[in-house]
Amino acid sequence: MPAAASSLARHRSRSPQTASSTVFQEEWQVYRKVVDNNYLCHREAYAVLRNLLLEEMPAPFRFLDIACGDASATVGALADTEVAHYHGIDLSEPALALAEKTLRALPCPFELTRQDFVAALRERTVSADVAWIGLSLHHLQRSQKRELMVDARLIVGERGKLIVYENASPGPETRAAWMKRWDRQRPDWRAFSDREWASITNHVHANDHPEAHVTWLELGYEAGFGRARCLYESPTRLFRLYCFDC
Ligand SMILES: C[S@@+](CC[C@H](N)C(=O)[O-])C[C@H]1O[C@@H](n2cnc3c(N)ncnc32)[C@H](O)[C@@H]1O
Repeated sequence: MPAAASSLARHRSRSPQTASSTVFQEEWQVYRKVVDNNYLCHREAYAVLRNLLLEEMPAPFRFLDIACGDASATVGALADTEVAHYHGIDLSEPALALAEKTLRALPCPFELTRQDFVAALRERTVSADVAWIGLSLHHLQRSQKRELMVDARLIVGERGKLIVYENASPGPETRAAWMKRWDRQRPDWRAFSDREWASITNHVHANDHPEAHVTWLELGYEAGFGRARCLYESPTRLFRLYCFDC
């Protein structure tokens, strides 16, 4: 088996907690239900990621999955690509345990680290060609997002890419207004009980900090990327996928 187990063991002793990750440690099954019902448009977003990797990463590449969760959507996106190495970082023990199994489908070595991704990126000395963040950067305030994107820019260098799928507003919008639009989804989440909806929605209200479309582009340039592209917007207009490169 690839080096996953030993890497996990090495990092488990740090066992950090953040408020933004608690729901994913306690209620991973509820989040799985969100993904399975495609309520956050994982299918479309990860299809865009896959096309990008197929079209723009023709040579073997090292993939860094920041806040990888159980890695199931990423494994699908990496199928048939030139991925040569996978490294996932997350705080959720149940998610990482699932990821350890799911990632065995990859044709390359993989590594999993249980660590706060902010610290992990700041301390990282190993480069990657693609850094991917799915629905997790929005936990940070704007200045912290910028700092993390600067760290990611250093990791991927001149020739790599940072790709994010995140909470976004199409135009100027307050956080409260974005939350109101989030709340309007309730009738569409038919598979969710009131308790399940509340557990996700309370987490979103407490932890999520969306950015306007122009702010996401600016953050990319401020982090040192020469190009910032929006490649997907969810039909709810709550989420967008961006690719930053040079
Ligand atoms: C919404 S899920 C996203 C999972 C996956 N990337 C996806 O696209 O579905 C958020 C993930 O971020 C992780 N997370 C949240 N804050 C974190 C932090 N500070 N450091 C590491 N992982 C974190 C959670 O454990 C969870 O797996």
